[in-house]
Amino acid sequence: MPKQVTISDPQVLIDEINRFMATLKKLLLYSVYICIQVAGLAALGLCCKWVVHHLGGYSLATPEQIFNYHPALMILSMIVINGNGILVYRIQRCVGYRQQKWLHFGIQFVATVLALVGAYAVYHFHAVKHIPHLYSLHSWLGLSVLVTMILMSLAGFVTFLWPGLGSSTQRLIIPLHAFYGLFNFLMAAMVVLTGLTEKALFSMTSPGQQYRDSPPAAQLVNLIGIAVVICTALVLGLAINDDLRRRVSGSGDKQTKKH
Ligand code: HEM
Ligand code: HEM
Repeated sequence: MPKQVTISDPQVLIDEINRFMATLKKLLLYSVYICIQVAGLAALGLCCKWVVHHLGGYSLATPEQIFNYHPALMILSMIVINGNGILVYRIQRCVGYRQQKWLHFGIQFVATVLALVGAYAVYHFHAVKHIPHLYSLHSWLGLSVLVTMILMSLAGFVTFLWPGLGSSTQRLIIPLHAFYGLFNFLMAAMVVLTGLTEKALFSMTSPGQQYRDSPPAAQLVNLIGIAVVICTALVLGLAINDDLRRRVSGSGDKQTKKH
């Protein structure tokens, strides 16, 4: 006969279940986080493969090869780095709130600078080849995403770090800041998808090798897009999940972590 375990105090059982659920949640959080890194790096790797095998590779020698830095730099900065910056407050729980803020600022600053370098690559290509600037939906939305990144970096720094506004003003601004940050991240993903589609249509022009003929390059482009969509969905999923939100008491730098 199997021995029966009896738990005299129901509170012990409840505590045990709560501990188990907390461990499960943590496991899920880190599994999703790993999937985000895998999807982001897959998008980047596939993009480099596309450029190297089908678009003439990377070099500063010709305007076309200078353009080639644009897709990878934009995916790296606006999806991979921006996504990691957004998740700092959810994932980096072993450091204090002020360190999280510096880390968040540092990552978003690097993302903004790399995005500007990537945008310069395509601006230079258009200027040298006498292609009109800013004619497409991709370029209009892309410009607005870049301007938002710059403004958010500046406004975030001034509001939350230096000189830093009052803690009640900070509390008022955080939801707005978080909304625009997430909205801009979603917009960036859409801009990447329109950019990929445009470049696929522009670059696959030989008869029988056009985008609609599904040559290997077309399949690569589609896979890059799917990896970007998965990465974006998972980042947004973690960022809007209230269970993972830092619970705070007090405000500003005096906020304390409850989990
Ligand atoms: C969030 C990411 C991205 C942003 C913010 C962005 C931004 C821009 C901007 C502002 C331009 C206009 C440049 C000018 O008119 O001088 C542009 C052009 C272009 N981008 Fe992107 N881009 C992004 C991602 C991508 C990706 C992943 C590709 C894929 C290949 C791409 C392909 C292109 C192409 C082909 C052009 C030239 C045609 C056009 O102006 O629409 N972009 N991009
Ligand atoms: C391009 C720049 C930036 C973007 C896209 C961005 C985006 C975001 C997003 C999406 C959130 C919500 C995260 C969450 O709910 O877990 C957030 C929160 C926050 N960001 Fe930024 N951010 C940027 C720059 C900055 C800068 C420069 C600072 C200065 C330190 C800053 C400080 C904060 C703070 C204090 C929070 C609230 C964290 C909390 O829940 O207590 N951000 N940001």
